[in-house]
Amino acid sequence: MKVLILGSGGREHALAWKLAASRSVTGVFVGPGNAGTMQVGTNLPEVSLASFDTIEAACRQNGIDCVFVGPETPLADGVVDFLASRKIAAIGPGERAAQLESSKAFSKAFLVRNNLPTAKAEEFSEAAPFELYVRGQAGRRLVVKKSGLAAGKGVLESSDTAELLAFGASVLREDSLLVEEFLEGWEVSIFGLSDGTDFVVLPPCTDFKKAHEGDSGPNTGGMGSICPVPWVDDGLMQRIRTAILAPTYAALQREGLGYAGILYFGLMITAEGPKVLEFNVRFGDPETQVLLPMLGADLGELFEAMAAGRLAGAAAAFQRPGAALGVVIASRGYPASTEKGARVEPMPALPDSESVIFHASTVRDTAGRVRTGGGRCFTAVGTGRDLAEAASRAYAAADTVRFDGAWCRRDIGRKFMA
Ligand code: AMP
Ligand code: GLY
Repeated sequence: MKVLILGSGGREHALAWKLAASRSVTGVFVGPGNAGTMQVGTNLPEVSLASFDTIEAACRQNGIDCVFVGPETPLADGVVDFLASRKIAAIGPGERAAQLESSKAFSKAFLVRNNLPTAKAEEFSEAAPFELYVRGQAGRRLVVKKSGLAAGKGVLESSDTAELLAFGASVLREDSLLVEEFLEGWEVSIFGLSDGTDFVVLPPCTDFKKAHEGDSGPNTGGMGSICPVPWVDDGLMQRIRTAILAPTYAALQREGLGYAGILYFGLMITAEGPKVLEFNVRFGDPETQVLLPMLGADLGELFEAMAAGRLAGAAAAFQRPGAALGVVIASRGYPASTEKGARVEPMPALPDSESVIFHASTVRDTAGRVRTGGGRCFTAVGTGRDLAEAASRAYAAADTVRFDGAWCRRDIGRKFMA
């Protein structure tokens, strides 16, 4: 099977790396890709995620059997429906089911009508009732969320009424919003693979969303990740499965929203049990970079089974022993701003197969040198017997990545190691 992965981030580099090792994959293409994906597959820079015709043309030209969509925007824009109409197999939801991610109002309504555990929320599309509501809750910690896609930056948690009102007002100029109760707890990212009917659960991950050490500072797309999560034991995993995953997949099926693809359950583990913070209809970034090294199964075979609707008979997606930890190396100013074009010094060869550096935002210039594309530029991943060993390998790898303005959080995974 020849696979085209759409996207150009660290998640897509990790997917290409894993698929390149699959017994059933004979060609890995990445469109448009980055300077890292070209080391494990063939980049198709002519592919633009904003122009589906370029995707169709690339599929025809390269004999692609299956398209895997990495990021959320083309899914929200209906790329899977488009490819289906052109008789090209693709893994991912159509535009309607993609609203589980692209509209927080849609996903909250889905959660509520199906009695799935989630934070209480109110939806607003006008300033006056929003203001009245927030003023009525003065002093409470609340979460204001832009309904549409915002790359992890559309959420504010605060107990400062003025700050909540200002953020909400800026959102309401272009979108509706939700005001949610603030949930106390710790977060975990659970990935389900489905063929539209059956589902398989992958090992638990978590990412570190705050920009700064000690989980402080603004939200980002994720500054690091670990897999598995030591606090998620078999009992909790079972509870997540029975209280959230099984009823969610049953509800999707009932409502005609089931699809062959990934469903990302962003969960808060609270004193009352796990609750859904959000759904995403794709793999997480940077969770994928630690998930795939821990996945003992052949990803190409799983994709084949998903696309063919025979996931029930596929080999179990088992978890390798040990742990993986990923550290994101970002450009100066992220997440407030992005600085592009810094030259990346050649990276020395990594010492062993227990560490890997995934490119997230890089390009090769006309002279063949690697330059940063801004934002989250690399994820350095280490694996080991435990998190501490994985962390020391990940940071050794991260320290080999050098460009002007490069920085990373130095405490990824630490709270789980005590
Ligand atoms: P979301 O895009 O909905 O996942 O929100 C982004 C991040 O904001 C989450 O990963 C949490 O860290 C935080 N967050 C969102 N909703 C809540 C909530 N109701 N209570 C506490 N934290 C939240
Ligand atoms: N790491 C969070 C996300 O992929 O949405």
